[in-house]
Order: sequence, then structure tokens, then C-alpha cells
Amino acid sequence: MRIDILTVVPDLLTSPLNESILKRAQAKGLVEIVVHNIRDYTTDKHRQVDDYPFGGEAGMVMKPEPIFRCIESLKAERAYDEIIYTSPDGEQYAQRHANHFSTLTNIMILCGHYKGIDHRIREHLITREISIGDYVLTGGELAAAIITDSVVRIIPGAIGDEASALTDSFQDGLLAPPVYTRPAEFNGWRVPDVLLSGNFAEISRWQEQQAFERTERLRPDLLK
Ligand code: ADE
Repeated sequence: MRIDILTVVPDLLTSPLNESILKRAQAKGLVEIVVHNIRDYTTDKHRQVDDYPFGGEAGMVMKPEPIFRCIESLKAERAYDEIIYTSPDGEQYAQRHANHFSTLTNIMILCGHYKGIDHRIREHLITREISIGDYVLTGGELAAAIITDSVVRIIPGAIGDEASALTDSFQDGLLAPPVYTRPAEFNGWRVPDVLLSGNFAEISRWQEQQAFERTERLRPDLLK
């Protein structure tokens, strides 16, 4: 899989994309992540990526030409399954989006900035708009990092123990059950006996029941 990320602040993505599981997944050749600086696609002396909005509102808007050039030059090299724009007015991101994106071959993520991008780009080039939540970030880079992280970690082979990605919260529509490690007693607090029993049917039943109980208490909306 290949993920191209288009941004005016490439440095914001350096660390999130180059540590831990994402670093290993790239080293193993499971995913290629390429960050593009939209400013490199300007043609003017000042390398200007934004301009005043028509209509005279406050704030700046990302100009269409450099974004258009960047997207078109990538599309000339390969076919893209999705061209995603990160924006607070997009569809609310969820695990099902990550699952879908992880099955694709090439995706592009365009990070919004300032007041947003010229709407013609959204109308003519973007195939999907994603919001990571009902709050406003300074730009779409952290949203792009979140999307990339959630997609890459479920590519088969990215996580050492593959079963672990399948038991994540949300994968079955429920929150994950609590987990514990050694020591079995710490500070006088004991791990639930059932987990030490060696009875895998019992353990599995307990985990299911815990997952359901936690979901009912913390996220009843998921059960509807
Ligand atoms: N850009 C700014 N805020 C955002 C959000 N909540 N989701 C995605 N992109 C954004």
C-alpha cells in the first residue's frame, strides 16, 4: 500500500510517521508513506500557498493551483483509490473507515490549513472528506497522522501479534475488555482470578461479558 500526504507543514508529520509500528511497517515494505510539501508545487517567487478569500471574510484560503499540480502529478504516476481531504466538516472518522482504507492500494491525504482550501479542489478532485471529531485543529496534519496510523497498524504483518488488531476496541462494535500483566498481585490489587485459571473458555466468556458491560456503561451509543 502507498499513502501520499500533501501538506504545507511537512515537519508536523515527521515524528508521528517515523516511530514504532509505522516505522517498522515501512521498513518491512508493507506500506510506503510519502509526504509532499505543497509549497514545492508553487511557481511564484514567494512560493505562496494561500490567498485572501473572495467575499472579504477573515482568514486565508489555500490556493487551488499548487494543490492541483501536486495531485495531478501524483495521479499521472499511479491510480488512486481515494483522495481524502481532512476537514472538520467531513464525515466523522471511525474504525470502519480505517478497515476500508487498509484494503486499498494507493490513497492520498490532503491536509487542510488556514480557513480551508479553495472549494473547486473539493468539488473536482477530492473523493472523500474526513473529520476526526467535532473540534477544530490548526491544520489537517494531525488528522492525517491519525488516519495513517489507524490504517497502517491493521495491515496484515504490521503488528507482531496479528490477533491483537482483531481484538481492538471497536473491531467488534464493543470496547475492549480490561487487560493485565504480571505481577498477579501489585500493591495489594489482584488480577481477576479467572484470568489466572488457565480455562480459556471461561476467560473468553469473562472478556466478552466485560466488553459488553464496559460498552453499556461508557459508550451506550455503540450498542444501538
Ligand atoms: N482540520 C481541522 N480540524 C480538523 C478535524 N477535526 N478533523 C480533520 N481535519 C481537521
